[in-house]
Amino acid sequence: MGGETRAKVLVVDDSALIRQIARESLEARGHEVTWAASAEDALKQVESRQFDLLVLDIVLPGMDGYEFCRRIRQDPKLRALPILMITSKASVREKLAGFDAGADDYLVKPFDPAELGARAQVLLERSARTQDAPSTKTLGKLITCFSLRGGAGTSTLTVNVAVALAQLLQGQVAVADFSLERAAVPLFLDLVPRLTMEDLITLVAEVSSIDSRTLFDHLLRHTSGVNVLAAPASPEKDEQITPSLTATMVQALRQNLPFVICDTSSDFRENNLVLLERADLILLVATPDIVGVKAASTTLHVLDAMSVPRDRVQLVLNENVLRSQIGEKEIESTLRQPVAEVLPFGGDKPTAALNTGIPIILSEPDLPAAKAIRDIAIRILQRPDPEVQAADPPGLLARVRKRLK
Ligand SMILES: Nc1ncnc2c1ncn2[C@@H]1O[C@H](COP(=O)(O)OP(=O)(O)OP(=O)(O)O)[C@@H](O)[C@H]1O
Ligand SMILES: [Mg+2]
Repeated sequence: MGGETRAKVLVVDDSALIRQIARESLEARGHEVTWAASAEDALKQVESRQFDLLVLDIVLPGMDGYEFCRRIRQDPKLRALPILMITSKASVREKLAGFDAGADDYLVKPFDPAELGARAQVLLERSARTQDAPSTKTLGKLITCFSLRGGAGTSTLTVNVAVALAQLLQGQVAVADFSLERAAVPLFLDLVPRLTMEDLITLVAEVSSIDSRTLFDHLLRHTSGVNVLAAPASPEKDEQITPSLTATMVQALRQNLPFVICDTSSDFRENNLVLLERADLILLVATPDIVGVKAASTTLHVLDAMSVPRDRVQLVLNENVLRSQIGEKEIESTLRQPVAEVLPFGGDKPTAALNTGIPIILSEPDLPAAKAIRDIAIRILQRPDPEVQAADPPGLLARVRKRLK
């Protein structure tokens, strides 16, 4: 977006005079200017239309500019939107509060209209440079939860790890439900699918064309910060979710969110192989019975054959029955893989959580299985991975790691 390109700018100010000055200076540069007299009105507008820049007054009737700015920064669809704050408050403290709320630049009233135009241009060009350089944008981490044994607790683990990560990050993560005909992630979170991956793939053929807004329109948002990409509503649509489209969707999620946690079906269909091959971390669920251990053993052989390094695999022993038939040590020696975490039997609590749509991490945080899942999430955040750090808003993971020390 250069000086010659028309940008869509939303000016949020209750003063008609300031709106007029801003409009004239921005229109003189060829931009299209829309206005809102309150933050509430502006919120409605940014939800329904795409803007390239916000020019925002701090003192507004109702919600003030700081709060508005914070809301924009918390919304994954909007958080990259450049914001130029305008105010009559010139003290350093007020400026810092503006930057703290997420403003990109600051202009003090009374200002020269030419300065507003110039600062707006700098922000628009900076934002265009960031968007034009997807190759330098680091990807979020892909975590694939898998078990070749059905009913092992893979979906329980997927959903709870995702909620725990969102809680620890105080941010957004994605869950993609590739368990297809046994898809249940929305049920675990009491969410009703509107749009699913089926709608997403009809819209796009290539990753580059899934823009953030389209992607987030297809995600179900949970209050915890988990964003769910739901499986197709009917199983006969599953075959449309080809391995290449699986890769495309996961890539788009990774470009927009720091963690993408995938639920899978309990088989080696090609989608799952793509998700296993590309994963930064595989959470392999084993159950303490002969079928569960055999399934984990077969999976490890397949992963070896795919040249997936063992340090990318964490074995999670889910004690989904009251009395385990096979002990942890025996499982470790049979599989020649350490058990990274044991999820102790949770009685009827995990199933009750599933039926109410409130994951155990939220409804039963003191349950040993919930604590174990939180430990898994903490270890995920502590895994040395410079790529993930670069993908996040500056300092986010560093702050979390510091809190965890
Ligand atoms: N540690 C546990 N203690 C008690 N119950 C558990 C435990 N883990 C899972 N469950 C229960 O086991 C059942 C199966 O769990 P879940 O749906 O997560 O398994 P899955 O591997 O995803 O199954 P599917 O193959 O159908 O996708 C659920 O009712 C769940 O509440
Ligand atoms: Mg499942």
